[in-house]
Amino acid sequence: MKEFSPREQELLERLDWFVKLRWLFLLGLAALIFFSVRVFGLELDLHAIGPIAAAVLLYNIGFFVLHLFQSRFKRTPLSLRIEANLQIGLDLLALVLLIHVSGGIENPFIFFFIFHMIMGSILLSGRDIWYHAGATVFLLFLLLGLSYLGVISHYHIRGFASADLWNNEPYILAGAVAFGTTILMTVYMTNSITRSVRHRQDELLLAKGQIENKSRELEQANRELIRQQNLLVRSEKLASLGKLSAGVAHELNSPLTGIMNFSYFIRDACPEKEQVQLDVAVVIRETERCKKIIKGLLDFARQSEPEKRENDVLEILKKTIALVENHKDFREIEIIKDFDSGLPRLMLDRDQVQQVFMNLIVNAEEAMNGAGTLYVRAKPGPDGQSVVIMFRDNGPGMDEDTMRKIFDPFFTTKEMGTGLGLSVSMGIIVNHGGELEVESKKGGGACFTITLPANSGAGGRAAA
Ligand SMILES: Nc1ncnc2c1ncn2[C@@H]1O[C@H](COP(=O)(O)OP(=O)(O)OP(=O)(O)O)[C@@H](O)[C@H]1O
Ligand SMILES: [Mg+2]
Repeated sequence: MKEFSPREQELLERLDWFVKLRWLFLLGLAALIFFSVRVFGLELDLHAIGPIAAAVLLYNIGFFVLHLFQSRFKRTPLSLRIEANLQIGLDLLALVLLIHVSGGIENPFIFFFIFHMIMGSILLSGRDIWYHAGATVFLLFLLLGLSYLGVISHYHIRGFASADLWNNEPYILAGAVAFGTTILMTVYMTNSITRSVRHRQDELLLAKGQIENKSRELEQANRELIRQQNLLVRSEKLASLGKLSAGVAHELNSPLTGIMNFSYFIRDACPEKEQVQLDVAVVIRETERCKKIIKGLLDFARQSEPEKRENDVLEILKKTIALVENHKDFREIEIIKDFDSGLPRLMLDRDQVQQVFMNLIVNAEEAMNGAGTLYVRAKPGPDGQSVVIMFRDNGPGMDEDTMRKIFDPFFTTKEMGTGLGLSVSMGIIVNHGGELEVESKKGGGACFTITLPANSGAGGRAAA
């Protein structure tokens, strides 16, 4: 079904409500007839009233079914308006006939029309209800006139009103004038009330829409603020850590080289297969690990000074992939390359960007445990000036908690990892004015996206 405006939706609900109200009306009519005939002994012409009530019952079943299965129909605003006019129009006709066969002007229920007009004003728009009011007055006048002239027979309710009311001219005239003015005044008043209510409703809806827009904007601003705050905290952390690591790494480098060299001497001086040689091998392996950490720290500390030159980013990417493709760890990794041609040349520090690509590719390989598919996509950014490079693997992915921490220095889930790969990469991309984003879900692989801007000045954003 088509999406309706709030007002149309309200009309649809009211039409539904009208159908329910008509069931009540039919029940009320049955009770009224029962009491009139059985309790008060009035002589109603049930042969005339019965078919009219049956017709009301039938068309109400029709409307009921329509509402029950309306999701299957193509309901348009016009179809709603037609249905509203049909419901009010059919009720009007039924009421005129019921009044006619139950005494006409003798029947005090003639003022039920007022009720009918109030309901009509709720349902219909301004112009439509005036047509119905006109039709009501016209039909009633016609009924009184025709029965007065004897064109149609008059139904007198014996035992209720005097038998000559229907051709008593002053009574008919006074009744018709009272009826006509009451109907028109009622429609005028209810119509102006519903108009002003609708006007207020429109204003409220407008205000609601504006408030919703503003709250959406606020939410977005708030999200951006939190992002910037996280970034600030992270960059402050990175900056102080950078300074500290540079000093420590530098100091540790020479003693470690010494330990390595002397370990090699000891190993070479020991006879093979001796316990000492095996122990020294452990010292060498662990010292190498320390050196790897030191190298990471030095990379991390150096990351603030990229030497940018105009470069073809695709060429750097292809070269990095070529470096790993023949490596034994990548033997069971299928690398799908999806590169757009004619990407813009960018101002980049070639070595640093290559290091980022390498970190992401190696991370993917490690996540997939040496077997899987790595999809690498390079395309122009939405502005046509920047370049977007995406690395998507089908590894185990990460949960939200891990994802929040992966750019923190030293965060690692690997036994032999330093946890510096991504924080170094993030620093490099930020220094190129770009963005490094990650999308992942536990069990659903990971996707790292780098956006490098055309003017790769300092600044940029990082996001997890
Ligand atoms: N493609 C990936 N899929 C799943 N998890 C990943 C992926 N890339 C990174 N990670 C997670 O992020 C963590 C941090 O990665 P980062 O590259 O910074 O360090 P590392 O790979 O653990 O260590 P190093 O890079 O020194 O070998 C990883 O330990 C891993 O948990
Ligand atoms: Mg890594």
